[in-house]
Order: sequence, then structure tokens, then C-alpha cells
Amino acid sequence: MSHTLNPSDTPINLTPAAPVSRRRFITLSGGVAAGAALSAPFVQAQPAKIKVGMMLPATGTFASLGTAITNGFRMAVGERGGKLGSREIEYFAVDDESNPAKAPENTNRLVQRDKVDVLVGTVHSGVALGMAKIAKETGTLLLIPNAGADDITGPMCSPNIFRTSFSNWQPIHPLGKVMAERGHKTAVWISWKYAAGDESARSFKEGFEKTGGKVVKELGLPFPNVEFQALLAEIAAIKPDAVACFFAGAGAAKFISDYAAAGLKDKIPLYGSGFLTDGVLQAVQAQAQGVMTTLHYADSLPSKRDQEFRLNYAKQFKMQPDVYAVQGYDTGLLLAQAMESVKGDFGNKAALIKAMEGVKIDSPRGAWTMSKEHNPTQDIYLRKVEGEQNKFVSVAWKALADPGRGCRMA
Ligand code: BEZ
Repeated sequence: MSHTLNPSDTPINLTPAAPVSRRRFITLSGGVAAGAALSAPFVQAQPAKIKVGMMLPATGTFASLGTAITNGFRMAVGERGGKLGSREIEYFAVDDESNPAKAPENTNRLVQRDKVDVLVGTVHSGVALGMAKIAKETGTLLLIPNAGADDITGPMCSPNIFRTSFSNWQPIHPLGKVMAERGHKTAVWISWKYAAGDESARSFKEGFEKTGGKVVKELGLPFPNVEFQALLAEIAAIKPDAVACFFAGAGAAKFISDYAAAGLKDKIPLYGSGFLTDGVLQAVQAQAQGVMTTLHYADSLPSKRDQEFRLNYAKQFKMQPDVYAVQGYDTGLLLAQAMESVKGDFGNKAALIKAMEGVKIDSPRGAWTMSKEHNPTQDIYLRKVEGEQNKFVSVAWKALADPGRGCRMA
């Protein structure tokens, strides 16, 4: 692959493996760029392409989430003529298989071998934690379009890491209050046992018990296991007022289906973070009717911006958008807006970071801003499954920011 040398395009990922402070991140990238400029032959050329490394699941239970994120990202860039602040893009893609054990190898394929300028990924919190570690060590710009691992915008926060989706704490925190208001006093929690499930459990419990509810049992199974029968039998025996959960993708569809098949659907109301019902209703709409969830997106938001987005997405990809498509789209918007504000000068890292920190994203989900820990401050909606849609019910929490516990931005 040919690559025109351009000072502002010099990769920032060739720094030694040590934590990157904001000042060091900026100084290093500026210094390397200056060095490259001195040794570069004079070439009157197009600015080099921005190399974007997409590390997402293309197989496994989260495969459809990876597709939706890729579609959304490409749609945002497509709306800008396929460019990021006047720079063409070159895409690199890796299937991360939602496998945390392969995260270092997969991330290094993009960072060390392909020398991407920007990493976009991923869906699974455990994989994202591995990516964030490498991004922090190498200074590579990392944009996270889904994975909610709290630590990434908590103790691991870093100037070069931004999230455009949510923290695991965020979308489910308002659910406890909603359930308490609906008269539920006891709940059983069930989820996969990994960062996203465990952190969602903690946040739900915090919200539910603050309003007087009691989580009487926490059930779990390893990711991506879908053998729910024994756990559903336990729920039936406990007879809580309600069940709350975290599942997503194909595993969520299986859980909804098994919950109904176990005869629980009309006996014990099912709630969850909205990942439970997003992107799965074509498969399980009959079994999901009436399920209420909280999330930063809904299928029927009363906004022209969202209606246009949904129409264009459906036209372009021949499928309905979901929260993952919106997050991919917003990741494209974030990068494009920041690149426009530095006029395509990717080497100007200080200005690029500043632009991302001060961004306001006019998203289909509703406008959101970037918190100082680099996580969206956004509205969380209460939704109810009606037909094939997660219908907007109300704003469950206006402009909710993650607490950003433990973040000390260098
Ligand atoms: C996560 O692992 O962070 C995650 C995966 C799917 C949906 C939401 C969160």
C-alpha cells in the first residue's frame, strides 16, 4: 500500500510502552511530526489518508452489533463526502470475536502492523479494556463506540481515549427508580458474569435500593453462555416482584425467548437496560411485548433529526437502525467534527483533543456533550416494547453524567 509522507499524518503510536500523560502525548506527537518533516523529501501531494482501524465483532453473539456500528460510522463519514476534515480515509478491520484473550494481539495488529492513526472499537467491555491498555501505552487515539467498562472513563481515563456510547453505570442507573415507582419492592438480577454484567448489576442495585427496593438475588452465567433454564427455574421459585437484567445481541434474544417459554412473561415483569431489546425485536417481538427498559436511545423519539436519520439509514442499509448504529454514527460525527475543527491537521493532537472535549454532538439520540472524563453526558429514556419497536415513554433521567469515579486525567 503506498502512502504519501505527510508530517501531520505521522502515526502517534510509535511511542515507548509507558503511560501517556496529556502533555507527553501532545509533545511526543508534535516532536515526531517535526522530525518527520525535516527528513521528508519535498513532495507536493494530497494529504495522506487517515488510517482508521475498526476493531469490532464480526462473529459471535455480538456480530450484528459490530455491523450496525460499522454502518453508522460509514454513514456519518459518507455524509461528509467520505472524508474527515478534507482527508481521505483508509479502513482496516479486525474481527475481535468478543474475545478478551485475543484483545492484545488484535489491537497490536492494527496499532503496530497497520500503524493506524485512530482505533475505533469495540463492543465487549473485556476486549475494550485490553484495547484501552494498549492505547494508553502507545498514545494511539481510541474512540469507543459501545463497550461500557466503567474503568475506561474512570481510573484508566486518558487524554487520547474517548467514548461515544455510555458507561455501564449509566443506562441502567435510572431503572431502579422507574421500577420502584411502578410498585416493585423486590427484584432478582440476572446477567452474564463479566465487566458489563457486573457493573450494570452494581448500578441497578444502587438505584433500586436507594428508592427502597431490595435486590433479593443476583444470578449470573459466563459470557456468552445461553443455558438459562436452571436460572429461570430459580427465578420462578423465588417469585420476586420483578426481574432486571443485562443481556445484548443474540444472547438477549435467546433470554427473552426462554423467559417466555418458561412461563414467566405474564407472571413476573421483565426489565433491563435497553440492550436487552435493541436490535432483536424482529426475532422475538411476540415474546418481548410490554418489556420496559432504560437506554440512551428509543425507536420513536419525537425529533426530526432522528426521523431523518432512521429514514436514511434504512434506505442505505436495508435494515432498521438501533442504538449501536447511532453510536457508530456519533463516533463518525465526533471524529469528523474534530478533524474539521483542526482543518484536517491530524498531527495537531492538542487541538484535536480540545475539539473532542468541547464537542456537542447533534445526535439522533438527542444532543449530547463530552464529560471531562471523555464519556457522553446524555438523556436516558424509558422505553416499552410495542410491536417491533422500543417505543419512547418518557425521559427517565435528563443529562445523566457518569460519576467518573477514579479518573485523574493527566
Ligand atoms: C459491553 O460489554 O460493554 C456491552 C456489550 C453489549 C452491549 C452493551 C454493553
